[in-house]
Amino acid sequence: MIKLAETKGLNIIINEKTEGVVPDYLREDELFNVTRFHESIDGYERTPLILLSDLSKELGVSKIFVKDESFRFGLNAFKALGATYAIARILCEKLSVNIEDVDFKFFRSDEVRDKIKDMVFVTATDGNHGRAVAWAANTLGCKSIVYMPKGSSITRLENIRKEGAEAEITDVNYDGAVRIAKKKADEIDGVFVQDTALPGYEKIPVWISQGYTTMAKEAFSQMKEEGVKGPTHILLQAGVGAYAGGVLGYVVNLFKDEVPKVIILEPEKADCIFKSAISDKKEPVFVTGDMDTIMAGLACGEPNPLTWPVLRDFSHAFVSCPDYVAEEGMRILASPKGDDRKIVSGESGAVGVGFLKVILENRDFCYDKKMLGFDENSVVLCFSTEGDTDPDSYKRIINKLTIKEEK
Ligand SMILES: Cc1ncc(COP(=O)(O)O)c(C=O)c1O
Repeated sequence: MIKLAETKGLNIIINEKTEGVVPDYLREDELFNVTRFHESIDGYERTPLILLSDLSKELGVSKIFVKDESFRFGLNAFKALGATYAIARILCEKLSVNIEDVDFKFFRSDEVRDKIKDMVFVTATDGNHGRAVAWAANTLGCKSIVYMPKGSSITRLENIRKEGAEAEITDVNYDGAVRIAKKKADEIDGVFVQDTALPGYEKIPVWISQGYTTMAKEAFSQMKEEGVKGPTHILLQAGVGAYAGGVLGYVVNLFKDEVPKVIILEPEKADCIFKSAISDKKEPVFVTGDMDTIMAGLACGEPNPLTWPVLRDFSHAFVSCPDYVAEEGMRILASPKGDDRKIVSGESGAVGVGFLKVILENRDFCYDKKMLGFDENSVVLCFSTEGDTDPDSYKRIINKLTIKEEK
């Protein structure tokens, strides 16, 4: 790993040697049923893949694509891809059926609803995953209980309650909320549906990571339809890394000898993947404390132990970003220049575009840009993983007001 000099608060490490073994569960043939199942969910549509031509010209690259996940199932974030697939697999086990043989309609039939109506799904979330679990449970006539870390947004809490969940904000951080949820699930004989693995708890997080790959699969076929050969760079933001690791593993298997450069972005206050990458150990390193960042969806201190090895072995770079990077991205996407389409992108969704703007526009980053392999031929794919999931904070940021100024 090469650590580049810190510039404007950004810390970047380049992974010189990308090699390793991708878990079998991220092989394309293993993932066939994931997308097929998603396509059977009522209201499923591919989310838009938006080409920002004017921004690409301004920043000196060939193309910047943004996949807008604010349109996913009307939930304003991508997380339902993981939650729905995991819950489907849990129900398959309960009903002794194979995922190959069923679709979403099957789970909504009167006969099945009667068999699953007393099931309770329990989870911890900073907002999006919990809303997705609550939505899936509610849609299938089951119950859900959701725990949030201290300082969570009230709007995000209310959106989870609107899906019929019993939800509360705890006085611990994200990783503490995960432990509370696990304990509760054990006590009430509920099903713990978490997007990170714990010792002896791996099956469900694997299904969740598999679920996220639909987003990448859609993006690659949309690019193909536009006549664009695969991306040269993919920017993935990470909390525990279940989504980034799932997508990266899928990408490595799919592109084989021509794997795009994948860059992992985290908030500096919760950069557990970055810290793990820079440490000499092969094992993940934890970040503790409040992890005070506007990127609430990424405020996780303990990497998912299942996807961490994929991130460690195959990411091209790891970046620890101050909050201003995400704010920059939110504003660019909210009021794009020229003919580019507006994208409503929340704090955890916009960090990729913000990073591009900071790195590619600023002469102080010439060396970093070279090390990251960006040039006029680069085709960059970013995922805006959420819309304005905290609308007050979103408005404050795009209007450039800080909380102090507002008073
Ligand atoms: C909007 C958003 N983007 C990205 C992530 C990161 O996903 P993961 O925790 O799997 O790294 C999250 C997680 O909650 C999220 O809500």
